[in-house]
Amino acid sequence: MSDRLADKVAVVTGVASGIGRATATRFAQEGAKVIAVDLAEEGLREAVAAIASDGGEATAVVADVSHADDCARIVETATRSYGRLDILANTHGISDMGDTGILNVTEEIFTRTWEVNTKALFLLAKAAIPEMQRAGGGSIVNMSSVGALSGGGGTAYTASKGGVNALTRTIAYRHADDLIRCNCICPGPIDTPMMHRSFEKLGLTDLPIAPGRVPRIGRPEEVAALVTFLASDEAAFITGATYTIDGGASGH
Ligand SMILES: NC(=O)c1ccc[n+]([C@@H]2O[C@H](COP(=O)([O-])OP(=O)(O)OC[C@H]3O[C@@H](n4cnc5c(N)ncnc54)[C@H](O)[C@@H]3O)[C@@H](O)[C@H]2O)c1
Repeated sequence: MSDRLADKVAVVTGVASGIGRATATRFAQEGAKVIAVDLAEEGLREAVAAIASDGGEATAVVADVSHADDCARIVETATRSYGRLDILANTHGISDMGDTGILNVTEEIFTRTWEVNTKALFLLAKAAIPEMQRAGGGSIVNMSSVGALSGGGGTAYTASKGGVNALTRTIAYRHADDLIRCNCICPGPIDTPMMHRSFEKLGLTDLPIAPGRVPRIGRPEEVAALVTFLASDEAAFITGATYTIDGGASGH
């Protein structure tokens, strides 16, 4: 590891599990001071303790990021603790087991999926951007999905991730002058509890073999490496971009 995030203050969401946990761990290894956020308190505390025992710096904030007051509290924790905020990595998300075809998905599932996967990113960006303006710039990385680029996933999830991609571009457009960058990542299947739930819903036990595709499931650490690059100053000329990380699946 290097120190490519040395002295940066970063909010990371979804740290109790999967991609969020891998991202917070990698950020801390790269020298960032991490405000680690999740709704699931036990998993969050365990992840933060693991980061600390590895010599990293992370503060746990138990919060539901679909609520504006929780988002304000998250950003306040960063500024109160460290006086600034440089990075926002939105790596939380949900995919409901009942989220299937449009005729079967309830309005309740659609609304909750949109609130957590899309509206929360709007609320967190709204709270974080004024602090990034004060800091003279910043980087926002939003977790989308290859589901946003096709139509095969759950109805609510697919629509919510399409919103993430568009929200990313509008934030990038409005804040390029402020040197605040905003990019999104569209992973294919990554080995996390969410992926295992999705496979169960689809009746899959493994990734179907297909030509032109790396023949395995991705690892959360591989996504965390891309988040880290986009969050870092090495990506200073990259904004409004959509990256796939799917072993080549969406290209064929
Ligand atoms: N795993 C995959 O195959 C895959 C593929 C494409 C996209 N993604 C996306 O990557 C992101 C992370 O997914 P994952 O696979 O790590 O999932 P995961 O289920 O392992 O972890 C998601 C975390 O988000 C937290 N969370 C959910 N709602 C929250 C809320 N309202 N407030 C705060 N925290 C909340 C959960 O408690 C959990 O710890 C999601 O946006 C997901 O849509 C994952």
